[in-house]
Amino acid sequence: MPTLVIVGAQWGDEAKGKLVDALGSEAHMVVRYSGGNNAGHTVIAGGKEFKFHLVPAGILHPNVHSILGGGMVICPKGLLEELARTREQQSDLGKLTISSAAHVVFPYHRLLDSLEEEARGANKIGTTSRGIGPAYTDKVARTGIRMGEFVDPEVFPQRLAEVLEVKNKMLAMFGREPLNYDELLAEYTAYADAIRPMVADIEHVVQDAVYSGEKVLFEGAQGTFLDLDSGTYPYVTSSHPTAGGATLGTGIGPRAIDGALGVCKAYTTRVGSGPFPTELLDDVGEWIRQHGKEYGTTTGRGRRCGWLDLVVLRHSARLNSLSGLVVTRLDILSGFEEVKVCTGYKLGDQVLHHVPQSAKDFAAVEPIYQTLPGWQGDLRGCRRLEDLPIEARNYLDLMAEMTGTPVAIVSVGPDREETIIVRRDLIWG
Ligand code: IMP
Repeated sequence: MPTLVIVGAQWGDEAKGKLVDALGSEAHMVVRYSGGNNAGHTVIAGGKEFKFHLVPAGILHPNVHSILGGGMVICPKGLLEELARTREQQSDLGKLTISSAAHVVFPYHRLLDSLEEEARGANKIGTTSRGIGPAYTDKVARTGIRMGEFVDPEVFPQRLAEVLEVKNKMLAMFGREPLNYDELLAEYTAYADAIRPMVADIEHVVQDAVYSGEKVLFEGAQGTFLDLDSGTYPYVTSSHPTAGGATLGTGIGPRAIDGALGVCKAYTTRVGSGPFPTELLDDVGEWIRQHGKEYGTTTGRGRRCGWLDLVVLRHSARLNSLSGLVVTRLDILSGFEEVKVCTGYKLGDQVLHHVPQSAKDFAAVEPIYQTLPGWQGDLRGCRRLEDLPIEARNYLDLMAEMTGTPVAIVSVGPDREETIIVRRDLIWG
């Protein structure tokens, strides 16, 4: 069973899009398993830049079947716009199927996301305002509307009426005008009509692909430390970006996963609030942001930047049962005389080698750094490990040693070709 999970090993934005595009072209099926249009993947293919928020990057390959899994929350308007935009850039797209179990994001979710953030004041999470938290809240409260219900004209009007009654009461509590049922029904019925042909039960489809030995890629969104349970709660997203999330809503169990590649930057970034021990609030952080163009694909916000945190990465390796690391943006760190990596934390008079679960403790830790010689020159032309400066190779060796996970792939630039395959055997087994 050649099945592979691609997971963000830090706080998201690890440049997974390029990898999913490259490996997706070798797969029969690409299944996205969590999140919604809070995610943003940039893929550069055939000289064009594609931006995806919902659609798996596998869509660019006409022979690949792309699936939006049941663990996702999907904004139909955003999805249709994204598909139209992608079709304008490339006419021959692969087949797309949407799980009937995925939940639908409605305008009241987006409104409530913003209103709740506003109400949190200084304690805001820094969400993407895409309605993700409120849509997952409805799912857990068992009041959400699933894709299967949304595209069923005998069910949707009644479900919307029930839910909207409650949501309008909530909006009134925030001093907002109610949403008009007839307008919302008309607008969303049109989206449902457009989406209906793509909606289906997908669990058995994914199972059949997996058990007939096809190559199936499970595409994670966001990153490990944004996971609802294992991330830096409450500064997390409302879903499960970890490798375990790939089994939720896609129809497979843990033994059907052969490998998990953890994508990590050679440094660390984070968007939104929450603990980030190695954050650099100085010129070095600003240099990384400018040099690495560290601005969000979804919101355009400047990302917080810092040194590589190997405590975070080792936890991620264990949490996701990583079989290999994919180190991205190694080229961006080029030019420093010295680089630092965090190998432990000081918390009061204690030394920690693990990530504290309490946000209060995690916010209070001080990083313990190891300083390494930096490397110089443009790495974008490197295609083999041996082409890299020895200092960069030593850096990769330390990452592998500290995480107990071999480096499978190194990315040295945004283009597909700007990639070093270190261990092909770690990719599809
Ligand atoms: P939400 O997912 O919009 O509810 O946002 C919750 C937290 O996750 C915020 O800190 C966001 O900045 C962060 N977040 C959500 N999606 C992504 C992503 O794709 N990349 C990086 N951070 C994200």
